[in-house]
Amino acid sequence: MTKETNIYIDYIRAVLSDERYNHSLSVAEMCKRLSENYGSDPERAYLAGVLHDIRKESDIETQKAEVEAAARLASLTGEAPVGDEERHPKLLHAVAGAEFCKNQFGINDRELLSAIRFHTVGKADMTLLEKIVYVGDAVSNDRKYHDVKYYKDLAFENINKAVFEVVKFTILKTVKNSLKVSRYSFEAYNFYSEFK
Ligand SMILES: [Fe+2]
Ligand SMILES: [Fe+2]
Repeated sequence: MTKETNIYIDYIRAVLSDERYNHSLSVAEMCKRLSENYGSDPERAYLAGVLHDIRKESDIETQKAEVEAAARLASLTGEAPVGDEERHPKLLHAVAGAEFCKNQFGINDRELLSAIRFHTVGKADMTLLEKIVYVGDAVSNDRKYHDVKYYKDLAFENINKAVFEVVKFTILKTVKNSLKVSRYSFEAYNFYSEFK
């Protein structure tokens, strides 16, 4: 593990609860293993996992402010707009986390930032790192839901099919709870349905 990664681990240890900290390391480990499986940089995938929930337990008003800053910048630069659905309290931390890592840590790896930003809703045509973080978050070893083994095995066999199954599961759960579904999730669903 690099010195830089250790600094971020120390940071999340300080700001996250035990449960969220353990989840983050669990996701990082899963991202590393998936990355090794698919022949990409395991250290970078591990770091993305460490950072993905970095704002999850921070003050909600601060998260909102970070999301609005990211939304303003996106409208100026033509980057992916922040949808209203992503302003749900449970989802804010994804956009806020990427914004925080860019501004507070000076991280400028755009793909890594995007993997953090889309880890909750997914999107169409993701890069390998984005897919690894999206799926890694769903199948990390601390996850206990029914059928987790099926999703985990699939993640190592066929990452595109795993993205499809995870986004389908997430959309169904969101609909069941009568919440709005992000258009990015629908776009991911349609895109990855080609791989089912
Ligand atoms: Fe998250
Ligand atoms: Fe997570």
